[in-house]
Amino acid sequence: MKISVIGTGYVGSVSAACFAELGHEVICVDIDQSKIDQINAGIPPVYEAGLPELMEKHAGKNLSATSDYDLAVRNSEVSFICVGTPSDHQGNIDLSIVKAASAGLGDAIRRKKDYHVIVVKSTVVPGTTEKVVLPIIIGRSGKHPDDFGIAMNPEFLREGRAVHDFMHPDKIVIGSLDRRSGDTVALLYRGLECEITRTNPTTAEMIKYANNAFLAARISFVNEIGNICKELGIDTYEVMKAVGRDFRIGPHFLNSGAGFGGSCFPKDVKALIGKASEMGYEPVLLRSVIAVNDEQPLRMVRLLKNRLGSIRGKKIAVLGLAFKNDTDDIRESRSIPVIKELLRDGAQVSAYDPMANENMRKVFSNIQYCSSARDALYGADACMIMTEWEEFRSLDKEFDVMENRLIIDGRHMLGPRKDIEYLGLCW
Ligand code: UDX
Repeated sequence: MKISVIGTGYVGSVSAACFAELGHEVICVDIDQSKIDQINAGIPPVYEAGLPELMEKHAGKNLSATSDYDLAVRNSEVSFICVGTPSDHQGNIDLSIVKAASAGLGDAIRRKKDYHVIVVKSTVVPGTTEKVVLPIIIGRSGKHPDDFGIAMNPEFLREGRAVHDFMHPDKIVIGSLDRRSGDTVALLYRGLECEITRTNPTTAEMIKYANNAFLAARISFVNEIGNICKELGIDTYEVMKAVGRDFRIGPHFLNSGAGFGGSCFPKDVKALIGKASEMGYEPVLLRSVIAVNDEQPLRMVRLLKNRLGSIRGKKIAVLGLAFKNDTDDIRESRSIPVIKELLRDGAQVSAYDPMANENMRKVFSNIQYCSSARDALYGADACMIMTEWEEFRSLDKEFDVMENRLIIDGRHMLGPRKDIEYLGLCW
């Protein structure tokens, strides 16, 4: 089938390339000409494992990009809205980009006779597809809802694993108000072995938020247990390894430490808090998920200061800047509040991350960025491990260059070492 994808961030780019891989003809739409040019040249506009191969394979054949909504809508049967839904200054969802995309699509289908389906894939708070997107499409197209399709199809992609997750989903959720819209979207996923959950748009939106909020709550839960274990002098990882044997819990996503970052968990939990409050419900548990998460980096700095005393003038090495391993993305990274606290207390900071140095330089220009862990550790009075990069597990001799061998580990990457004072955040 012919698909257009509005927005070429990591969800839009990955969805476009994977739909092309499934045999569909795909046109991407963006306002950023450099992204359009990259995609047409077979170069992914975002870093994702497996995406370069797919973009190179399909660009110029059944994958292209344009800034022209009309061209894209005229040459497709289904349009996916994959634009960003950032938080506003109060933490509530900002739907302005979704609204702009909806208006652009509404205008474009006004000038089109054939049936066209508009699908919201962006993460939007429950009620958005029906109460925000649909009215805009009706208003701008002048069409009756029976004359076009609308659906909601959330994504469950992890950064760094998004291509894998798209091609190997454990669920596909399609919310629609009428059968034809949902059937049309379901056809697009025919090449994937996966059960499709059919429901209404608001339920589909809530499935996405509940999924992310549950995963975030799981992390704050293990961190709360971890903080208690720390006071007891026991290892949370030993506790959660046994707990994870319960078939109702499972062994994944039980890693305590510095907490969750990324462009999704913090934003989505806060957006759900905002929506719940707007509906008159006080989400006590969701608020505590954020509160526990906000506190973890500060606990790491307190641990450091308990051991070193004043850190004014001291050199602290921060290993790991990205919000998680295998990405250069620093959005809501747990290293940001740590660096902020260190600088506020007058420490000098040296930092190393295999991929994220340049992105963090845009946030903190006044720290030393190093090209290896060893360089960052040189002459340091302490080291703080903030990201679960695999290479950190094998650090050993590199610690010899430290002035004072104190490690505060926020990601369970190391363990006790001879001649090194090792402190785990929750173990
Ligand atoms: C998440 C969801 O996993 C994905 O399904 C959704 O579509 C988008 O949000 P992502 O944010 O890319 O994906 O990363 P994820 O691998 O889930 O990790 C999120 C954060 O939680 C990272 O900062 C990671 O370090 C942290 N984390 C993860 C933990 O602290 N403990 C864990 O056990 C797992």
